[in-house]
Amino acid sequence: MRSLSAKNILVTGGAGYIGSHTCKALHRAGYRPVVCDNLLHGHRWAVRWGPLEQGNIADRQWLDDVLLRYQPIAAMHFAAYAYVGESVSEPAKYYRNNVAGTLTLLEALRDHGVERCVFSSTCATYGDPETVPIPDDAVQQPINPYGASKWMMERMLADFDRAYGLRSIALRYFNAAGADPDGEIGEWHDPETHLIPLAIAAAMGSGKELSIYGTDYDTPDGTAVRDYVHVADLAAAHVRALDRLLAGSGSGAMNLGTGRGRSVREVIDAVQRVGGRRVPVEEAPRRPGDPPVLVADAALAQRQLDWTPAYSGLDQIVETAWRWHESRTGGGAAEQVIDSRGVAGTKP
Ligand SMILES: NC(=O)c1ccc[n+]([C@@H]2O[C@H](COP(=O)([O-])OP(=O)(O)OC[C@H]3O[C@@H](n4cnc5c(N)ncnc54)[C@H](O)[C@@H]3O)[C@@H](O)[C@H]2O)c1
Repeated sequence: MRSLSAKNILVTGGAGYIGSHTCKALHRAGYRPVVCDNLLHGHRWAVRWGPLEQGNIADRQWLDDVLLRYQPIAAMHFAAYAYVGESVSEPAKYYRNNVAGTLTLLEALRDHGVERCVFSSTCATYGDPETVPIPDDAVQQPINPYGASKWMMERMLADFDRAYGLRSIALRYFNAAGADPDGEIGEWHDPETHLIPLAIAAAMGSGKELSIYGTDYDTPDGTAVRDYVHVADLAAAHVRALDRLLAGSGSGAMNLGTGRGRSVREVIDAVQRVGGRRVPVEEAPRRPGDPPVLVADAALAQRQLDWTPAYSGLDQIVETAWRWHESRTGGGAAEQVIDSRGVAGTKP
């Protein structure tokens, strides 16, 4: 049965962390997010604002069927693998899923006349930047297969615009953080590699100390500095980018970050302040390929999308994440989880 709607937006990876928060923002803005996710890293419980179509973006037949039934006016493309370390040991997996998968998706969008796409890119496309804060037009020289795969996806989008008129805005996020301020959804990666949820889990007594990778960087306290941007702010930027494309704008790419750098130790302090508990830590050597400082200059997003992050305080960001983790785990040592099939269990 056809489900025609002028407001359907195809959201690949919409059952994941940033995708699900964006679905909520889309719904609030009057759109209907149609989530396309294979649930490999996403969660059924995170799909609450539109239908879920379970499948792989590399499956052209399935995509054709979904596109025919929903006839979306635009796409948002979050689906990808995003573990930097894994991309170094298993590059083929990353090029297959991220690059080849995106090619299949873009061909399907082209063939079904979907001419606008908002794309999840990353500061990892810059590699080890020459200038910090990193300007929107900085040279992209990725230093790992994950970053390279995203850079290739950006290139593909630019070429699809030139040749087929598929217009896109690539949003290069820095470190996504925090959870839905209403507490409905939040970050739940497995395995988790992001600093804030790991620090919260360590503070709540998950049994694992938090590893600080590198304490001898050329930064004020010796630990790596990153730009933490709230996931609700990222979601809002996606809706603005979509509106801009629908209003007829051309393609582009821009950074999304707060412009403020926070060291690993500053994040740990914030988690301890917010949670009122100590974060047990161990100091570990630097990880290869981890740049000392990654901070955004988000001038273009401010100018073109009229976007500035509403959450600029680190404590504010951590508070939403803490509340979410507390609601999921009860704030205790046993990490009570609900898996992607909605089955409750305990995390090992
Ligand atoms: N989390 C960050 O800090 C960050 C920073 C920069 C860029 N990004 C990018 O943002 C996007 C979303 O990140 P996230 O943290 O929400 O990750 P996530 O893993 O939570 O979400 C990705 C979703 O895509 C789905 N997926 C992956 N491959 C698929 C495929 N072939 N077919 C269908 N579904 C597939 C997964 O099941 C998952 O639900 C990713 O593209 C990531 O590279 C994330």
